[in-house]
Amino acid sequence: MALVLFRIGVRSKSPPGPRGFPLLGHIFPIPALKAWTYFDKCSTKYGPVMGFSLVGERVLVLNRGPDADELVRPSQAGIYSSHPQLIYASKYWYQSRRLIFMPYGDELRRHRAAFYQMLQASDAASSAVHQEIESTKLLLDILENRQHLFENIEQFSVAVIYKLTYGKRMEGNERDLEDMAQVIHELNEKCQSSIHLVDCWPFLDNLPDSLAPWLREALRGHEVEATICGRLAEDVEVCRLDGRLQEECFVTRLLEQGRKLGFDRKSTAYLAGTAFEAGRGTTSSEITWFIAAAPLYLQSVKLARKEMDMVLSDRIPKIGDLDNLPYCTALVKEVLRCAPSVPCGVSHRSLEDDEFRGYQIKKGTTVIPNIWGMHHDESVFQDSSQFDPSRFLEHTKSTSDNGKTLVNICLGRFLGASSVWIAVVRLIWAFNILPVLDDTGDAILPITFRVGLLGLYGASGLYLLYEELLISNELIQ
Ligand code: HEM
Repeated sequence: MALVLFRIGVRSKSPPGPRGFPLLGHIFPIPALKAWTYFDKCSTKYGPVMGFSLVGERVLVLNRGPDADELVRPSQAGIYSSHPQLIYASKYWYQSRRLIFMPYGDELRRHRAAFYQMLQASDAASSAVHQEIESTKLLLDILENRQHLFENIEQFSVAVIYKLTYGKRMEGNERDLEDMAQVIHELNEKCQSSIHLVDCWPFLDNLPDSLAPWLREALRGHEVEATICGRLAEDVEVCRLDGRLQEECFVTRLLEQGRKLGFDRKSTAYLAGTAFEAGRGTTSSEITWFIAAAPLYLQSVKLARKEMDMVLSDRIPKIGDLDNLPYCTALVKEVLRCAPSVPCGVSHRSLEDDEFRGYQIKKGTTVIPNIWGMHHDESVFQDSSQFDPSRFLEHTKSTSDNGKTLVNICLGRFLGASSVWIAVVRLIWAFNILPVLDDTGDAILPITFRVGLLGLYGASGLYLLYEELLISNELIQ
């Protein structure tokens, strides 16, 4: 009897969540590609802190910003600062060199410190120069060829992060882009938890190599990625030595800092690759979402344009105008809120048993911050499905200063947000954004989208959904 009561007691303290299948838990109900919509639906019934299981692995999903701030905020390095180590992705593909899959410890601290220094040292002024050059090119590219709007946006975000990371412009180095695109594509498809049997049943990792096809696949992925990242970093060293590269870039700083922090060349190359990969798809997803959604929110676009006309007269906006254009800045924040490009954030893992909001959190629990859910939390953002820049008008200092849109953990949030800002405001400044018209002259509007469309999967998802609708006509004039 005492045992039964004890069990009931324990169960009542576990975070609530839907009933899963025996043994398998929620592996089937949680969709691999749009988990955040499932979590969002569940949270209306079970509340903001929910518990799930994935083949025996405990998962805690947080749907409110303050809860995520409290548990996984890096400044409180503690029992939630670790990341899950997936066997396929972390152990074999990344060979334990990728920050977001590292366990808490010295290595993770050193990687974060290096990343931090690499980005902080990149003073905002020199980033701004490149963001302005590349966003001017974006406008010219669109003027020249409107049919490739989304590709041009993708090129803009690649060009900015490529230049900052490797110190050279994209033109003439397209092979790098193709190679990296291939890696990122595979990585997004293959490096997720719960799609590899070996991550669900770790005992499979003991099988002989000949019976472990995932092992060969992941090792091959590692080889390809390490070769590309290594070649890119090595090019920087060579160009630096022979005088072709005068400016500083992430890699040159990493080479200096890396020595002090004790990094080998491979880790240095991987860290630089992380910046490139993390900054590319996220930035372009946000801009692409804005352009796809803009026909629905033309009133807001008009107000942003009016503000620029008043403040700048005819001059093109610059990064330095951020504080002078509060409505434009609020509009970009609203884009970041409505369409978080990493909707399920970066997973963490608890290192000890804990109690949170009255629930028991067992050691080894994976913690998922449902960023999409946080951005649509009605207690913070009323009428959260509405695109309404005015909700950010009180917070006008920068595009990422209040932690409500990018979540504090993103190490590149200032860089990412300012790239989105300059591209979006310049697109509004330079073009008339109009809806596509049907044969009778009526506007064809994109369906209202409620979910972060792109997630980690780059802009290709959006191409499929909206290509016909948007590219077939004069979206931009
Ligand atoms: C608009 C662009 C960007 C968006 C929307 C974005 C969003 C995010 C989000 C939501 C997270 C996870 C936060 C969490 O789990 O709570 C994250 C993590 C991260 N981001 Fe960004 N990001 C952007 C740009 C960048 C850029 C430009 C870089 C690097 C140059 C970068 C580097 C990182 C890194 C390294 C992490 C992992 C941090 C860690 O777990 O320790 N991001 N980002």
